[in-house]
Amino acid sequence: MKKTQENIISMNKICKSFPVELGGEQQVLFDITFDVKVGEFVAIMGPSGSGKSTCMNIIGALDTPTSGKYELYGKDVTHLTSDELAKVRNEYIGFVFQQFNLLSKRSVLDNVMLPLMYRGLVMEDRIRRAREMLNRVGLKDFESYLPTQLSGGMKQRVAIARALAGGPKLILADEPTGALDSKMGNEILTFFKKLNKDMGITIVMITHEFDIARYADRLIHIRDGHINYDGKIPRDERNL
Ligand SMILES: Nc1ncnc2c1ncn2[C@@H]1O[C@H](COP(=O)(O)OP(=O)(O)O)[C@@H](O)[C@H]1O
Ligand SMILES: [Mg+2]
Repeated sequence: MKKTQENIISMNKICKSFPVELGGEQQVLFDITFDVKVGEFVAIMGPSGSGKSTCMNIIGALDTPTSGKYELYGKDVTHLTSDELAKVRNEYIGFVFQQFNLLSKRSVLDNVMLPLMYRGLVMEDRIRRAREMLNRVGLKDFESYLPTQLSGGMKQRVAIARALAGGPKLILADEPTGALDSKMGNEILTFFKKLNKDMGITIVMITHEFDIARYADRLIHIRDGHINYDGKIPRDERNL
């Protein structure tokens, strides 16, 4: 009982196959099994085509596995309908994407308020909460800007504020520095580290780069849909 409570993610023999155009199917994930505990900072790393995004879509309740069992915060989410999945996502997960996925015609404040729309909060509380989050990412003076007026690093900080606004159990980040230069990328990764250490927010970050994975405390390495390493960050990428 205790065990499932402190696990945010519990993946048990997850397999995923996609139908192939000419018939039959292609298996992309094979018996993926791992747990992530509350407060961990985990990198999921692997070369292009290894199954990272497929894995992230399952973790993020954007897709369901072909077989196996997936529990998110102790709740079995293996076979939910798409409406039920949407509810789970909104309640538990804050997403951060490579391309930021901000609404370009809406202000920074509106963007951060977005996940609060379905929370039954009155407008005043939504605004207060969004401002708190912008303050936390160092953007309190930018609430009325449009995303297009900001640098890439700032846009990603807006996306992080938005991800945090709903009070998620888990931040799920897919190549969060992929569209940033290395200076801004380092800033974002340092910020993730701080969120994890100071606020105890659980972070799962997908990346194909070892130098980015190193910011995490644990590395899960996937190759051809199999986990071939799960443990501390190794000293050298060649050990993977
Ligand atoms: N929706 C889909 N339909 C069919 N094949 C897919 C789909 N999504 C991913 N794949 C296949 O699964 C494999 C792994 O893809 P992906 O999970 O995107 O890898 P990564 O994110 O590590 O680059 C690839 O061969 C890809 O073509
Ligand atoms: Mg991918």
